[in-house]
Parts: sequence; structure tokens; C-alpha cells
Amino acid sequence: MKKDKNWEPKIIAYVCNWCTYSGADLAGTTRLHYPPFVKLIRVTCSGRIDPHFILKTFETGADAVWISGCHPGDCHYSAGNYHARRKFLLFLELLKFMGIPEDRLLFTWISAAEAKKFADTATAFIEKIKKLGPFTDFHKLIEKSNAKLIF
Ligand code: FES
Repeated sequence: MKKDKNWEPKIIAYVCNWCTYSGADLAGTTRLHYPPFVKLIRVTCSGRIDPHFILKTFETGADAVWISGCHPGDCHYSAGNYHARRKFLLFLELLKFMGIPEDRLLFTWISAAEAKKFADTATAFIEKIKKLGPFTDFHKLIEKSNAKLIF
């Protein structure tokens, strides 16, 4: 498929309010640069993210999804990130089964103090998704299977 020169990746990041969101905020206030293709959605905890959010995000046109929360042991709600990690390990298997490449999904731990890690991770993920190109395969998969996603 020929790549559109004007194409810009749409990356949706579900980030925990207490850690990664604050790390992103710190990246902004310390003027660290990263490409502007990541849209942040702040959630109370990474454990709050339902795998259906991810499918819905792809369905509505995202090229990639990034999930990030507090480091293990630092969750504001004690164990939310452990629940998230368990959920997404299982969810990755489901994605593979559905034919969705796992490199369209990123799962990280980034604390409020890790502004540079946030900016570096965002930059690396954006570059990777740029190389992969638009995620049109998801819509083809849905059309081919005649499936209707209901959320
Ligand atoms: Fe950040 Fe739970 S509060 S992952």
C-alpha cells in the first residue's frame, strides 16, 4: 500500500492520573520535546482501563494505543497496576488471536518524576508507529468477519 505523505499517526494513551499523567505534565513544564501525535486520556488508575476501551479506540480510528501507570508497588490504590498487568497479558493473547499485531499496543510504567522517560518513550513509540503506517487492517478485519463490536 502506498503511504500518504501527509499521514500523521493517531496514538491514544490511557495514562494513570497519579504517575504517568504527572510525568507527561512534567515533560511539558520542563519543555522536553516529543512529537505531538499522542493524545492523553487521564484515568484514575491503570487498573481502571477495560480492554474494551482498547478495541473501541482502534475501532474509532487509532493507529496505536499506549497504556501507562505507576510502577509496581507505587499504585495509589495499592494493586490496580497489578490487576492491569494481569488483564493486559491475557488481552495480548486475545489480540493475537484476532489478528491484531501486538506492536500497535504499548504498556509501560512511568512515574510522576520520569518526564524524560515519558518523552523518550513517546518519541520511540511514535517513530515505530510511523514506520508501521496507518492501522487500516483493523477495519478490514472487522469487515471481513462481519462482526459488530458492541460496547
Ligand atoms: Fe497509578 Fe494505580 S494509581 S496505576
